[in-house]
Amino acid sequence: MKNIVILTGAGISAESGIKTFRDSDGLWENHKVTDVATPEAWQRDQELVLKFYNERRKQIRKAQPNNAHIALVELEKAFNVYIVTQNIDDLHERAGSSKVMHLHGEINQSRSSIDAKLVYKMTHHEIKIGELCELKSQLRPNIVWFGEDVPMIESAIPLMLQADVVIIIGTSLQVYPAAGLLDFVTQTTTIYNIDPNSVMESNDNNLIIIKQKAGVAVPNLVKQLLQDIQIRK
Ligand code: OAD
Repeated sequence: MKNIVILTGAGISAESGIKTFRDSDGLWENHKVTDVATPEAWQRDQELVLKFYNERRKQIRKAQPNNAHIALVELEKAFNVYIVTQNIDDLHERAGSSKVMHLHGEINQSRSSIDAKLVYKMTHHEIKIGELCELKSQLRPNIVWFGEDVPMIESAIPLMLQADVVIIIGTSLQVYPAAGLLDFVTQTTTIYNIDPNSVMESNDNNLIIIKQKAGVAVPNLVKQLLQDIQIRK
């Protein structure tokens, strides 16, 4: 089976009601990113950071996968599908995708603030001040903040190298190292980019830009890819 790697960003969850990062005057849910999503913010005001992510968790748990998340599951009938997402939500998993890698962490996990390897699944809604890991340090969200390492990138690179098709959905490709994953795609790989405001420029036949919302474009593309594979059989 052919390998399809799907790189997703905030835009795929926009139609599920979760705000993107760079579509609203540089503010994210009325906060400056530096006030809530950096190690410095955590040092300065743990309560504010926890409150911010507790609200995000509640919002994400109420949201539902949309047509784009759901359509991607269909691809698994005919391809090896790997989803590499920058999103911290679990909408790909809830739609039914089986292989999902989260580059920037997961909202439904907490972690030790002194040992990044101590990660815990969260069933409750909130992390509170005073909730400690087994090493007795305050729990924080298991999110990669600006300025922190992205350990999952090492596992994502081999997927990009082996991809026959890459589909990039709803990401501004402004954040590294995630955006740099495209440098590992081979020249014969077909790349699709679905984003109404795509900034990619196509001067070769292997890059196909679809300037539409994910909820419309992804189901259409999935249908087309499944039809193409039927015809070839
Ligand atoms: P951005 O907010 O930077 O980009 C979202 C992209 O989605 C934009 O290019 C929009 O045009 C596009 N978009 C909006 N609505 C869409 C729709 N309905 N269908 C398809 N595309 C749509 O979000 P990311 O690229 O995901 O990191 O941001 C990358 C990282 O920066 C995030 O993971 C987060 C952030 O700060 C951390 O929190 C570490």
